Amino acid sequence: MTVRIGVIGTGAIGKEHMYRVKNRLSKAEITAVTDVNHDAAEKALEELEMKAKIFPDEQSLIEAEEVDAVFITSWGEAHEEAVLKAVAAGKYVFCEKPLAVTAQGCRTIMQKEMKYGKRLIQVGFMRQFDHGYEQLKQALDTKQIGEPLLVKAAHRAPEVDDSYTTDMAITDTLIHEINILHWLLADNYVSAQIFYPKKNKHALPHLRDPQVIQLETESGVLIQAEVSVNIQYGYDIQCEIVGEEGILSLPEPETTVMRYKGKQSMNLLSDWKTRFQDAYDKEIQAFINQVDNHEPAQGPSAWEGYVAAVTSDACLKAQESGQREPIELDSMPDFYRDEAKAAKA
Ligand SMILES: NC(=O)c1ccc[n+]([C@@H]2O[C@H](COP(=O)([O-])OP(=O)(O)OC[C@H]3O[C@@H](n4cnc5c(N)ncnc54)[C@H](O)[C@@H]3O)[C@@H](O)[C@H]2O)c1
Repeated sequence: MTVRIGVIGTGAIGKEHMYRVKNRLSKAEITAVTDVNHDAAEKALEELEMKAKIFPDEQSLIEAEEVDAVFITSWGEAHEEAVLKAVAAGKYVFCEKPLAVTAQGCRTIMQKEMKYGKRLIQVGFMRQFDHGYEQLKQALDTKQIGEPLLVKAAHRAPEVDDSYTTDMAITDTLIHEINILHWLLADNYVSAQIFYPKKNKHALPHLRDPQVIQLETESGVLIQAEVSVNIQYGYDIQCEIVGEEGILSLPEPETTVMRYKGKQSMNLLSDWKTRFQDAYDKEIQAFINQVDNHEPAQGPSAWEGYVAAVTSDACLKAQESGQREPIELDSMPDFYRDEAKAAKA
């Protein structure tokens, strides 16, 4: 079957996903779109040379007969309501991060999904589909370096515009490290603390940049994650895990090494779209395949969306207080535990 997808929010990432469904992936087509800015929906279809029905609002799109599954790629604040509507209609839903902007919003979504009785939701934490991170996960799960003790991570971007604020270093940027390190270590966070080193002269006056976020896990792993968003030289994601008997490092993206005029050089990437292109392709194809096979969704779950929301809230509190802030999670519902086991099997 061809999975018929409706897209809510045809902005930057919405268009990216529409493009990949049309040009890079299989077994799906975009049949419906909606955007609070009607012109944006029209323009997106025009730009991508696609034909799809434009719906006046998300409710009518979700309920439409020609929509099997929904992409939610609107602004973060709008995600919760759209996810709840999609689950109420029994439609599979791929929701870009954040699942909801509050932990309570994530709890409400989990309750709705559990009541429905089958996982329908996949959250857009694409790094779990990145080949490098998959290799780290495999090595950690098979204890190749013994138990992990320390993690050094970095999320660096060349520059940001003036709409980027200090809290967005957590909610938009670190959120990916929060999710991927939780997934890699399979260990809950217990505290967060933020440090502000000397400010980068390229950072705008309102922005504290860089930031170093220190997270501790239940088993005692210490994580130091640097977020630098005015680093000029490129888009660079680093992750090093120090274990009892060895060290694991995230592989660098493939690139040509050039030797020329007495120098050896290699290109660095400049944006997230290129860095994680394959991971985005894989996450969306996995979602399409699950819908096609009527299987429970298996990618990053609503529970992971909840963990990210609680951790992100503690980091925001730590930004303000300068103190070590506790992170307390509800206990994981069996529904997600069982689903996690089924996904691994
Ligand atoms: N996984 C990733 O790496 C990644 C990358 C970029 C963005 N994102 C996330 O994707 C989401 C969208 O980001 P973006 O950069 O595409 O933003 P954007 O502003 O470019 O696009 C959002 C679009 O959604 C529309 N919209 C907003 N509320 C709506 C609603 N209630 N109904 C219908 N349309 C609505 C807006 O008009 C806009 O066209 C954000 O939550 C962001 O955090 C994730």
